[in-house]
Amino acid sequence: GYCRFRNPYHNNLHAADVAQTVHHVLCQTGLMHWLTDLEIFATLVAALIHDYEHTGTTNNFHVMSGSDTAMLYNDRAVLENHHISAAFRVLKDDDCNILQNLSRDEYRELRTLIIDMVLATDMSFHFQQLKNMKNLLTLAEPNVEKSKALSLVLHCCDISHPAKKWDLHHKWTMLLLEEFFRQGDLERDLGLPFSPLCDRNNTLVAESQIGFIEFIVEPSMAVCADMLEVILAPIAPIANNNNNSLSSKAISSSTNDDANTLNVPEEASCEAIVCEAAEEKSSSAGTEKPTSMPTRFKIKKPWITCLAENKKIWKEQAVKGE
Ligand code: CMP
Ligand code: MG
Ligand code: ZN
Repeated sequence: GYCRFRNPYHNNLHAADVAQTVHHVLCQTGLMHWLTDLEIFATLVAALIHDYEHTGTTNNFHVMSGSDTAMLYNDRAVLENHHISAAFRVLKDDDCNILQNLSRDEYRELRTLIIDMVLATDMSFHFQQLKNMKNLLTLAEPNVEKSKALSLVLHCCDISHPAKKWDLHHKWTMLLLEEFFRQGDLERDLGLPFSPLCDRNNTLVAESQIGFIEFIVEPSMAVCADMLEVILAPIAPIANNNNNSLSSKAISSSTNDDANTLNVPEEASCEAIVCEAAEEKSSSAGTEKPTSMPTRFKIKKPWITCLAENKKIWKEQAVKGE
């Protein structure tokens, strides 16, 4: 299905890339320890199917051209609804049904999670999604729902190529722009106005990428990191430890089956707090701080340097282009 429309960008490679990125985040941040096996499975499947049978044209194009899919989904999240629906149809085939051993309840839970996650990849929900999460995180004791957290992670991974090394980011950008330009060609042929970034003769590539990084990607990554720090703080010793054998030992010593309220073994939690307190002390050397000040759990943010570097290169290209 991913190869059906021979898209330069929205094909099986993008699906694999997003699935790999989601997997990386789950493992590297320790987020997987906050989740049940079913939730991890749902997240990876959602990443794999999130652009299934993409037509190589945007929701705006579907709506403006009155496509069958736009008619079917009443102009709302047209592509995203289609990706989910078409993928679940494939999963119903006997020889493709990787869900056949799930119980009825497990299947319902997995399906609801996947639908929530993939619908939230619609860029028209982007600002609302970020605003909702930001507001939630300002509360004294935020209770972040699994589906909201995972939706934000998937959305961030979906727009994560500007947060990777220049060569990768540049390749993905060129592929996406070629897809946009082909849509522009279609729009011109149909007498429709050009969608943003779709006119191959009048698109400022470098400027558009600087804007995309500054207004979309950077704020998304920042909110996602804040969210991960909040939800992973209570399980910091487990989340921090990327050695699976030790982590599973810590989990199995918990008496509670619900990963939401995972019990952290006591010695482990002390160790991590000491470690974080020491980190805090060394980073604030010379400044006076009350010793009782609570420390904050922090995750690594390797994307920050990539975003800055990529933006710098686009800025140099923008100047050259002028
Ligand atoms: P999709 O992969 O369906 O969901 C995320 C969307 O972000 C993607 O489609 C594009 O429409 C958009 N996007 C991703 N990368 C860029 C980029 N470099 N410039 C502009 N838009 C982008
Ligand atoms: Mg999509
Ligand atoms: Zn995508």
